[in-house]
Amino acid sequence: MKHDADNRPLTSTDKPVPRAPEDGIAAAQRRISGLSGKLLLLTVLFVMLAEVFIYVPSIANYRNTWLTDRLTTAGVAASVLSETNTIAPRLQEELLRTTGALAIALVEGERRSLIAMSSLPEDVTMVIDMRGQSAMSAISGSVAVLLKPGDGLMRVIGAGPMSGGRGIEQVDIVLPIRLLRQDMLAFSGRILALSLFISGLTAALVYVSLRALFVRPLQRLTRAMQDFSENPEDSARLFQTSARADEIGDAERRFAEMQETLARTLHQKQRLADLGLAVSKINHDLRNLLASAQLFIERLENVPDPTVRRLAPKILSTLDRAVTYTQAVMAYGKAQEAAPNRRLVRLARVAADVGELLALADHPMIDYDVAIDPALEIDADPEQIFRVLLNLVRNAMQALEAVPDEALVCRIHVSAQREGRTVVIRVADTGPGVPASVKATLFRAFQSAARSGGTGLGLAIAAELTRAHGGSVRLEEAGAGATFRIDWPDRPV
Ligand SMILES: Nc1ncnc2c1ncn2[C@@H]1O[C@H](COP(=O)(O)OP(=O)(O)OP(=O)(O)O)[C@@H](O)[C@H]1O
Ligand SMILES: [Mg+2]
Repeated sequence: MKHDADNRPLTSTDKPVPRAPEDGIAAAQRRISGLSGKLLLLTVLFVMLAEVFIYVPSIANYRNTWLTDRLTTAGVAASVLSETNTIAPRLQEELLRTTGALAIALVEGERRSLIAMSSLPEDVTMVIDMRGQSAMSAISGSVAVLLKPGDGLMRVIGAGPMSGGRGIEQVDIVLPIRLLRQDMLAFSGRILALSLFISGLTAALVYVSLRALFVRPLQRLTRAMQDFSENPEDSARLFQTSARADEIGDAERRFAEMQETLARTLHQKQRLADLGLAVSKINHDLRNLLASAQLFIERLENVPDPTVRRLAPKILSTLDRAVTYTQAVMAYGKAQEAAPNRRLVRLARVAADVGELLALADHPMIDYDVAIDPALEIDADPEQIFRVLLNLVRNAMQALEAVPDEALVCRIHVSAQREGRTVVIRVADTGPGVPASVKATLFRAFQSAARSGGTGLGLAIAAELTRAHGGSVRLEEAGAGATFRIDWPDRPV
């Protein structure tokens, strides 16, 4: 089998697609704006920043060394030469040329002797005393040299050289600032070039290693997600984890697990959906068959045979129930409940309507008792809250009608009150209560019909509609009979 770059088996739908030129441009743009491009820029920036911190002390140090060198050379040479006390003009010139100084003076005790001078240093704009230099003064001195405009002279004072046994205490030289500035600028240029080289190199290394360590695995993961979302059922597209033990490896494993679970769930769901389709088709035909059977039986009712006359209505009502059942199943299969269209509804009115629909007002046995404040307003889809109450009240009515006995109290009590942003509604009856066998699956469709003729859909629908409003329905363990409690919150603000 052929494999692509990521060692993923190539499937028939995986044909390598020729890349459009725009793809290449987008990829290049992505490289710059992507994770590695950003890191490249940041690395250059940070290394340059670090270089600034290195540059400031080193330029100060460079200046100190430069000045000390000049002082030492001038001091030593001058002290050696002055021992003869007569310095030839040729030697004076030579000394000034090598040190770059305009004048050199030595201080010995009280005596101050000017050793060499080419022209009179009248324009001294800066005095630097090297004897009491601190780090800060060296730095500020460097900045001053670099930024000071013009071509003034500077006088540099240093301690005398410790040689020759003579007591030279101080060396004074006068130099053009320009000389120092030129050398410092050249030094700065070298540092800048070096910094650029270091940051470029570091950034390139960071870029390459990041691409290999993070960006490529992330791209692989993203591509796998895309592949999977395009066709989640294709098991050939399941992600192959690498053996990495780090966070990216974790993400890969989690993703692979999730893919597997999702693929499995999807598979199950698909089978259930197919099954549901088959059921609804069978159901449809079944309903038609039952309807024709109903027609035949109706004709049988007119046959004079007493057995037929006795049995026909029973068969008819059984068929009736079967048709109702198939219709309910089909309705549930089709029903995609609409999203609730919430309004403010008078709950007492809805409860009264439910009683009216079930003809409970003049029911021979059942006492329908609505204890809801007429002013109580509920934030609900009027149609849906009506269906919820209808299902609960109808269940209670059916439970009460199941065992007709004059002596039994038959009452349905509907009450409601607002608790903060939630309306709590209770539908209680004095019937036999919910059979223990159905309690566990009470709100699941088709799973709880203990009553003969029931489809087991009423409570499932009531629960679904309530959930769509953010609420819940549950059975309360409260005394005789059954009590259902609905928590119905207002719409979220
Ligand atoms: N008030 C109640 N008292 C006693 N049993 C109840 C009560 N309400 C529900 N039940 C039990 O729970 C089962 C499920 O009720 P549900 O309303 O979901 O379905 P159904 O009434 O059987 O059918 P359908 O409502 O779809 O016609 C009922 O068959 C019944 O056994
Ligand atoms: Mg019901």
